[in-house]
Amino acid sequence: MSTANDDLRGLIRTIPDFPKPGIMFRDITTLLLDPAGFACSVERIVEGVDGPVDLVAGIEARGFIFAAPVALALGAGVLLVRKDGKLPGATIAEDYALEYGTDRIAIHADAFAPGARVLLIDDLIATGGTARAAVRLLRKAGAQVTHAAFVIDLPELGGADALRAEGIEVATLVP
Ligand code: PRP
Ligand code: ADE
Repeated sequence: MSTANDDLRGLIRTIPDFPKPGIMFRDITTLLLDPAGFACSVERIVEGVDGPVDLVAGIEARGFIFAAPVALALGAGVLLVRKDGKLPGATIAEDYALEYGTDRIAIHADAFAPGARVLLIDDLIATGGTARAAVRLLRKAGAQVTHAAFVIDLPELGGADALRAEGIEVATLVP
């Protein structure tokens, strides 16, 4: 696949003032509508993975879309990091602050054995509140989380650097 990262950026549109005034919303629905662009974004994430991965953790909702094909390509399982209240089994949860509000994420408490090597995936990192909460949650459950990948980075919000400061190697495709 020859789509460059510059082309990926062109497939993502920015919608001002969604979901609140002042937020420049990066909309990946246009990337997903483009089969070559979507495939390229998945390939680029997979290419950046160095080392064995047992589970790919996708963050609800848009992280799921990228986590599933990345997991299939790596021969890993898919772990759903869901908004609290959505998982049917016993869960552990973690609160976090968003660029535009607060939320709570959860995983099934019995999803993996301690020591599982988990790659964290989401469509976008902004403040890093969501990803850092996911790392706290996964580590609390006994996972080894050393790598995370995002299609979009909003570097001015500092999330990727904050995650790196917590010992995570962070890969992003589009600034
Ligand atoms: C978006 C995005 C990330 C998060 C990033 O999800 O998909 O998960 O925000 O923001 P942060 O780095 O500041 O934490 P959102 O909470 O809008 O949920 P959705 O995917 O269900 O729409
Ligand atoms: N999540 C947090 N900030 C966002 C933004 N600017 N665009 C899309 N998703 C987001």
